[in-house]
Order: sequence, then structure tokens, then C-alpha cells
Amino acid sequence: MSKAVQLLVKEGKRQAETIDLIPSENIASRRVQDALASYFTNKYAEGYPGKRYYPGNVMADELELYAQNLARKIFGLTKRWHVNVQPYSGSPANIAVYFGLLNFGDTIMGMALSHGGHLTHGHKVNFSGRAYRTIQYGVGPYTGRIDYDELERLAKKYRPKLIVSGATAYPRKIDFARIGDIAKNVKALHLADISHIAGLVVAKLHPSPFPHADVITTTTHKTLRGPRAAIILCKKEYKDAIDKAVFPGLQGGPHLNTIAAIAVAFEEAIRPSFRHYQQQVLKNAKTLARELIKEGFQLLSDGTDNHLLLANVKASGIDASWAEGVLEQAGILANRNTVPGDASPFRPSGIRMGTPSVTSRGMREQEMRTIAVCIAQLLRKHKTPLEICGKVKKLCKRFPIPEIYR
Ligand SMILES: Cc1ncc(COP(=O)(O)O)c(C=O)c1O
Repeated sequence: MSKAVQLLVKEGKRQAETIDLIPSENIASRRVQDALASYFTNKYAEGYPGKRYYPGNVMADELELYAQNLARKIFGLTKRWHVNVQPYSGSPANIAVYFGLLNFGDTIMGMALSHGGHLTHGHKVNFSGRAYRTIQYGVGPYTGRIDYDELERLAKKYRPKLIVSGATAYPRKIDFARIGDIAKNVKALHLADISHIAGLVVAKLHPSPFPHADVITTTTHKTLRGPRAAIILCKKEYKDAIDKAVFPGLQGGPHLNTIAAIAVAFEEAIRPSFRHYQQQVLKNAKTLARELIKEGFQLLSDGTDNHLLLANVKASGIDASWAEGVLEQAGILANRNTVPGDASPFRPSGIRMGTPSVTSRGMREQEMRTIAVCIAQLLRKHKTPLEICGKVKKLCKRFPIPEIYR
């Protein structure tokens, strides 16, 4: 067996034996994985359907139009919304929106990284924070929820050209209507980045951003459970600017194998079982939150209404980097994360956890209780990883990684 194949096999074993609570991760179906490894990986298709810079793209054109239509279908959109399915991932998708709709130096407003926003929402080390003037909003100090009044005040004061809603570590529903109104009032564009919650939006378990935003971006690999990629959905009037920004502005040839996998994932998202899955994701997150609180953990905003939660472990005297390491040694993955008030992303106070992956394995409320107890035993009761990893392995064996979703 070659070294690369050995690593593939080892990674499969690692995933099978690990409880993955990283909220941005999930388990793509075998069909999605097959599409990624399909003949489409061999093909170049620079351009868009009907306007390619390479021959041999009859199937590619049909595939791309089909994926665009599926995107409209799962989000319940009419043809007034244009879809670009070519972004290689979530970060390039956001950058493409700025590049297409703004001039360098324009002001954008997004949620601060330490409050739950993403790097591409205007953080100073990111392209978004270097090429544009950025104003950052955040959550209230006591509520842990987005401070919409402050957001409005900042918008009126700084008059941004674009306001980004959406987050990477925010456990509560986002009021897209309110942010949309604020944006309208200051004549800003509203970009909703729903990368984390897209699956919940599709399942109608989170308010939709579509009536309130001009452009929506989402990764396809988180709650949407597809391949690692992203799509941009925009009102028709922004179609040309967005398409030009993606290609030839930022990218070359689209990854057709990934677009095929997006189409497969969207076909799966149409099925009733996808909504059941998302409902269970929410139930599991609520249970995990409740059980962790019972075990003495302090959660940001005291709970969750989506797929993720954030424990401020520093508040209990626990170092988040140590906690991440101990959990990993026991076979539980949850990532250290900044919480409001943290000065540096290198010394965060929080641990972020989510339920998309464990729910894909079929785990339910009972298993969330078991997981919460394991976490408490490791972090608060000083049991060693060796004492807990047997329990973790047993749970993983009872809930193997599913090969095919029906
Ligand atoms: C809200 C949000 N936007 C964008 C991204 C970027 O996605 P990618 O890692 O695919 O570039 C992420 C990733 O975590 C995210 O959470």
C-alpha cells in the first residue's frame, strides 16, 4: 500500500473512532464522496455554461445549470435569484462578493472574530480587513447576543457600503430582518453569510435571510453536509458583477467534481429525511447544552438555538488549549475558540462544540448526555483521557460512520 493510501485508511479509522463535535464539520455521504472522486475531476471548464474557454463541456454545462437550479429549489427561490456554484470555498466566496460589489477602501461592517464572526468578515489579518476599511460589531456583554442597537448606531455613524450578517461561533438565531432594515436605512448592501446554518435554513428551522439580504454566501460542507465548497446566491441585478468576480476575477477553472458533489448533496437535502436530520441536530445541541450546564459549565448566552454552543471554560478556571488537548486525547474533538473579551485568538477562553457530525452518525439525546458526562469528567473531575477513551470508543462503535444516507 502506498504511503498516501495508508494515510487515507488511517484517517478513516481516526474518524470512525472519534466523537467529532467541531460544529463546522460533518460527514458527507458516500454518494457525495463518489462525486468528488468522479470523472469530472479530469475536466477544465473555465467560464460559465454556454460560454466556456475549453471544448468538451456539454455535460459540465448541464451539471452547473442543474446545481444552480437545485440551490434555488432547496432554498425555495425563484429565478430572480442568481446562483454561482463555482467558489472553491467559503472564504473565496466572501472575497468575491466584496471584490465584485465594492471598491478597495470602501467600508464594510461585520461581526468581530472574538464575538463569533469569521475572519473574512473584516478581521485585520484577513484580506477583507486589509483591502477594505472595516467596522466590527459584536454581542452584548451580559446577553451574549448580537447587540442590534449598537450595530445600528455603528451603521449610522460609519455608513458602510456593505454589512455582513452571519457568524462562525454564534449560538443564537440571527435577526436577518433587523440587519436588513438597518442596511436599507443606511443604503448599504446586506451580505448574509449563512455558512454555518444553511442546513437549518433549508429545513426552515432558522429564519431565512433571503427576504432581507442582497447576497447570500454559504459553504456547502457544514450543516448542508456536502463537499468542501461554497455557493453565492444574489439578486439578479448583481449577477454579472458576482460572476465576473469569481471568474476571471479570482479563480480559474471551476472544480466540476465538487460541483457534481454539491448537486448530489442538494438532491439529498430535498428529501424529508434531511429535515428530520436537522431537527435532531437541534435537539441534540439543546440537550448537550443543558447537560453541560448541569455539569457546571458556563455557556455563552446560556444555551443555544442552533447546532452549536460555546462554553467559556476560562470562567471555571480551565485553560481552553489544555481542554482541547485533553478532549482530543480521549477521542473527543471540540475546538478552542475566542469569546467576547478575549484579547488574542492565541489564548482563547472558550470551547466550541456542535452536533452536525454526531447526529449524522445517528446519535440522539441519550448519547449527548453520555458525551456531556465524559467532557465533565475530563475537564472538571480530572479523570484521565485513558479512563474515558474506552467509553468514547464504545459509543463510536455503536454509531459507525454511515456509508449512505437514504
Ligand atoms: C461563517 C463562515 N464563513 C466563511 C467560512 C469560510 O469557509 P472556508 O473555510 O470554506 O473558507 C467559514 C468557515 O468556517 C464560516 O464559518
